[in-house]
Amino acid sequence: MIRSTFRLAVGAAAIALLPGLAHAQDKLRVGLMLPYSGTYAQLGEAIENGFRLFVEENGGKLGGREIEYFKLDDESAPPKAADNMNKLVKRDNVDVVIGSVHSGVAMGMAKIAKQTGTLMINPNAGADAVTGPMCAKNIFRSSFSNWQPGYATGEALAKTSLKNVVTITWKYAAGAESVGGFKEAFEKGGGQVVKDLTVPFPNVEFQALLTEIASLKPDAVYTFFAGGGAVKFVRDYKAAGLGSIPLYGAGFLTEGTTKAQGEAAEGVITAMHYADNLDNAKDKAFRLAYAKAFKMQPDVYAVQGYDAAQILATGLAATNGDAKQIDAFREAVLKAKFDSPRGSFTMSDSHNPVQDFYLRKVTNGENAVTAIASKALADPGRGCSM
Ligand code: PHB
Repeated sequence: MIRSTFRLAVGAAAIALLPGLAHAQDKLRVGLMLPYSGTYAQLGEAIENGFRLFVEENGGKLGGREIEYFKLDDESAPPKAADNMNKLVKRDNVDVVIGSVHSGVAMGMAKIAKQTGTLMINPNAGADAVTGPMCAKNIFRSSFSNWQPGYATGEALAKTSLKNVVTITWKYAAGAESVGGFKEAFEKGGGQVVKDLTVPFPNVEFQALLTEIASLKPDAVYTFFAGGGAVKFVRDYKAAGLGSIPLYGAGFLTEGTTKAQGEAAEGVITAMHYADNLDNAKDKAFRLAYAKAFKMQPDVYAVQGYDAAQILATGLAATNGDAKQIDAFREAVLKAKFDSPRGSFTMSDSHNPVQDFYLRKVTNGENAVTAIASKALADPGRGCSM
């Protein structure tokens, strides 16, 4: 009895001295706060698939710990974001939250992450503020800022003879910031935005605005739509007889959507940090493994999910699996060069990927690269100090 009590005490002391080992013994609690319903449902699923693929390729562990998932459908509803995030952090006691897709939701999450110090890796939402004024040591992004693809598309379009452009998007942060990035580069390059049109998110009643575009007769149209809304927009655009006005967009317009868009997507030009025909070994292996596991082709969202897991693995490798050692986690992530299916990328000081943007044209249903729109494009991180 005395001997076993003694053994127990020595064992406990040893574990206390080796916090890394203590962590290695329990599962890493991973919250997945993503849209599993609504217009962005498919995006959430692709992100989760990509995340799980990386974990499986690494023996089911990150930072030496097995994973326990806590899934929550955020419905792309910003008013519910803080409560949902609190459920994961306080009720489920997660070590890290992966989320989300919608910019408004991500801003609600970032506020709680900052208050509680919980590690957050954002696998999509581009809200500029998350790596701008709301930036924090414990918040990282594996995707893009809304400014980035907008800016890259604006640079590319400014090099053409198309000078008068109408923009059309959903009226919320992502649309406004995407158009903002586009305008900044396009107008710097000598182009002019003649009109900005918006519909409330997630409405897909485009008819009146398409009629307005027809009467404005611009040289080209720039747009931000994604998911189910992008499918409907591209089809409606063609059906409204606007096929002769070149359609440009942030690449989400044709990510995971070309099959459903069919003929109407052919020729649409976008800029994105991914494409369907990248010639790199990592992407080839990724696409094969993804198709095998999920019986479908990956898209940019799947890549961002995969890289969210990769960022997490890199940080946890430096902390023996402890998600609370934020300084060491951050140092490792900032030093890393990530071998991503998109091509390699690094992390900016405000925790946003510094990455190449490809100009793509939909050809036979694929986002085929036609040029590099912008090399190693870094979000300016305006307003970030940590
Ligand atoms: C966003 O809300 O930031 C957002 C949503 C869907 C996308 C891209 C950005 O495809």
